[in-house]
Amino acid sequence: MSEDINKKHAPAAELSIILPTFNEAANVPILIDLLHKTLDGVDWEVIVVDDNSPDGTTEASRLIARKDPRVNVIRRIGRRGLSGACIEGMLASSADYVAVMDADLQHDETLLPKMLEQLRTGEFDLVAASRMAEGGSVGEGLSSLRAWGSNIANNLAQKLLKVSLSDPMSGFFMMRREKAEEIAPKLSAQGFKILLDIVSSFSGALRIKELPFTFRERQHGESKLDTLVTFDYFGLLLSKYFGNIVSVRFLMFGLVGASGLVVHLLALRGFLTFGGLDFNWSQTAASFVAMTTNFFLNNKLTYRDRRLRGLRALWGLLTFYAVCSVGVLANVGVANLVYEENTYWWFAGTAGAIMGAVWNYAASSSLTWRKNA
Ligand code: GDD
Ligand code: MN
Repeated sequence: MSEDINKKHAPAAELSIILPTFNEAANVPILIDLLHKTLDGVDWEVIVVDDNSPDGTTEASRLIARKDPRVNVIRRIGRRGLSGACIEGMLASSADYVAVMDADLQHDETLLPKMLEQLRTGEFDLVAASRMAEGGSVGEGLSSLRAWGSNIANNLAQKLLKVSLSDPMSGFFMMRREKAEEIAPKLSAQGFKILLDIVSSFSGALRIKELPFTFRERQHGESKLDTLVTFDYFGLLLSKYFGNIVSVRFLMFGLVGASGLVVHLLALRGFLTFGGLDFNWSQTAASFVAMTTNFFLNNKLTYRDRRLRGLRALWGLLTFYAVCSVGVLANVGVANLVYEENTYWWFAGTAGAIMGAVWNYAASSSLTWRKNA
């Protein structure tokens, strides 16, 4: 009993390792074993932040935590998202340093002592593990399509945000907890690009060191991030570029909307050429095609944390059609009004389109993807 009390009053560890998890029940125990081996001699702890995984990751982690005082578990309910989980984990720490790493064994844990060593010198605020720095590699861990997307994304981050990281998409880093605490209110909980978000939010005021590592292949379970989440990354880039005036979610919604325009035009062409429909019918049918692809893209990306499934998705699609139909009216109405005052067709057209997008966004976020639906 007295031992328990002492444990509760033990001073904070020097290093907290945040492990965001979703369906990693098979990986967490293996990783914690590896951490014990690698971090021998360091005062460390682990904070597992699990989003109520259906595979029982919380229970598996708690089982370890009941025996191992280094292990802590946060179970989040009704919330999904990698960045949000990392932020919550970092804010639960009172250590000198916090590290964020994937729980699926793709990140090389033997890098942790080296990262810690760099931070202890006091010369750096953050150490990032980079697959691109000399000596690092994406290994077998990334599909070629993703590696290609990742390349473009890195270049854009460097150009747009002036972030000088060789691998801004990396999800493996260690930093001074104070710095994490300081920037937390500015971070976007949505999405999965936590490192880029932190570094760009500090706009150059962070002393960064990069260490190379090889991204391992996943052994158990599956990746939650697919090629499409690259959208999410561009959303974050743009939102940071515009100084956080517009939310990442709205930008994502806008990007999906823009892709819908392309779909619409292709479908229209198709119905006119092969469908044997007249223009009005073709235009109507193309609108439904575009609204449908927009719905599924938004459901997959913009609202990945509130994703609708099964019958709910069907109902969601119907409400989305309804919302968008009103959106068309808002669009045309505003465009008309503006056109009366100002006869630049493109100005009126753009004003209408923006009005339509704002309406679609506002209405669909409270109707189709409402919180805790
Ligand atoms: N709590 C929580 N909630 N954890 C999550 C969620 C979520 O919604 N989604 C994913 N995770 C956890 C996973 O369980 C894993 O521990 C870690 O976050 C990374 O997820 P993966 O699904 O394995 O991502 P990946 O391997 O495809 O992507 C990795 O590489 C990218 C670079 O290509 C990650 O490290 C990314 O951060 C990185 O950008
Ligand atoms: Mn992974």
